[in-house]
Order: sequence, then C-alpha cells, then structure tokens
Amino acid sequence: MSIKPIGIFDSGVGGTSIWKEIHSVLPFENTIYLADSANAPYGTKDKDVIIDLSIKNTEYLLNKNCKLILVACNTATTNAIDYLRANYKVPFVGIEPAIKPAALHTKTHAIGILATKGTLSSELFSKTATLFANHITIVEQIGNGIVELIESGKLYSKDMKALLKVYLEPMIKADIDYLVLGCTHYPYLIPMLLELLPKHVKIIDSGEAVARQTKAILEQHNLLNIRMKTPKNEFYTNANPEIMRSLLGNRFDVESLDF
Ligand code: DGL
Repeated sequence: MSIKPIGIFDSGVGGTSIWKEIHSVLPFENTIYLADSANAPYGTKDKDVIIDLSIKNTEYLLNKNCKLILVACNTATTNAIDYLRANYKVPFVGIEPAIKPAALHTKTHAIGILATKGTLSSELFSKTATLFANHITIVEQIGNGIVELIESGKLYSKDMKALLKVYLEPMIKADIDYLVLGCTHYPYLIPMLLELLPKHVKIIDSGEAVARQTKAILEQHNLLNIRMKTPKNEFYTNANPEIMRSLLGNRFDVESLDF
C-alpha cells in the first residue's frame, strides 16, 4: 500500500477528462496533474520532441514523489511510452485509441477515428489498427485545430462546430456506426458530436478502461492507497489556469507555474 500520489500528465487540459475517470474509480488516491499547455499541441510535433517533453513531465512528477505515471495523452503514449518504460522504474499507464472494441462491434464494417497527426502516424497505432481492424474500413481524421481551440477556452464555439462538421462528413458518408475518440481533449466534444452525428453512431473513448487499468496496475504492484481519507488533488499548468479550472467545474484550485 502507498499513499504517494498518482502522477498524470497531458499536453494540456484534455487529460482532465481522464483524471475524472481516475477519481471516480479510485476516489481515495492522491493525484498530481500536469498540463503542459505552453507546449500544446503535441500532435503536430516530431516524435523526438514528444519524447523530450514527456521526459520533462515525467521527471517533474517523479520529483514530486509519484508512485505511478499516467500518460493521459494518446500522442505522448503512442510516441513516448516505450522510451519512458525503458528508462524509469515506476509503472506507467498510457492511453490509446479504442479501435479494438469498435472494430469488434461494428455492423456497418466502417468506423471513424478522430485523433492527432502524431497518434495516427505512430507505429503503435498502425500496429493496433492492423491487428484488430484489418477487415473493416477505418476513416481516419486528423483533428487539426481542435486542441488549440480547447486550450484557448473556445470549446463551445462556432469555429469548433464548423471544424467538426468538416471532419465528420467523410465518416458519415462512409456509414460509420462507431466513432473512436483518439485524443484526451475530445471527450469534451461529445455533446457537440452527438448533435452532429446520425443517432445510430456510438462514440467510444478509452477513459474508463484506462482508469480500470490504473487500478489493476496499482493492485499488482501493491501500491493502492487503502486509507479511506479525502485525497489531495493538485493541478498545475504552465499556461492560463482559468481554462482548466472551468473544465474541472470550478471545484479545484489550479496553480500556474513554469516546468
Ligand atoms: N490530449 C492529447 C492526446 O490525447 C494531445 C493533443 C495534442 O497536444 O495535440 O493526444
């Protein structure tokens, strides 16, 4: 058992969608969340830059004594988690687009995936797609501009709706019945996506599965916090704290600092 915090990082505020799942599955765990918004988006950067940024975030969290690192970013997971696992002793949990369940359940034999360029072009993504979705059509779409809008506080905006319309059109044409969200910023788009998609299309994201996986890994390593006390949840950003605060329902303090 360990009362040390779980360290969570993302290129920005999107990973708070994963933090919420973690907090709901593991309500007594202490957590430290790091939003590297000053360097967002990661999705357009080269693999070696994504690895360097992931090292910086990991070391910051390890200096804060974290017992496990959750890479709450598909782009950082698909590009950097192998490096992190090979170079640091703590357990790492990552997040990847949930292609497998979508490919397994599709009836139209067509699924859509919305993710960053960095995720869609990664080796890990193409391996998973080949393994689980070789027999169906995958309509891939890079979500250019979405992360930037969310990071600048324009989640529910006309610009966002216009972007999403363009990105969904080829998917609707291909008759997808599942849309996989491959970026942790995107669960915040669900209300808008439901408005724009035909009723029968189901949206899948990996948040809940990742929270369950985190619990399993903590159990495996005997690291669960079994004290049933109100946890300490710390949130840090190197950009405007207001945007993250509002995504967290204004229920938590968000501290701004350089890292
Ligand atoms: N939230 C991220 C992800 O899951 C990164 C988006 C970005 O910075 O481009 O991929």
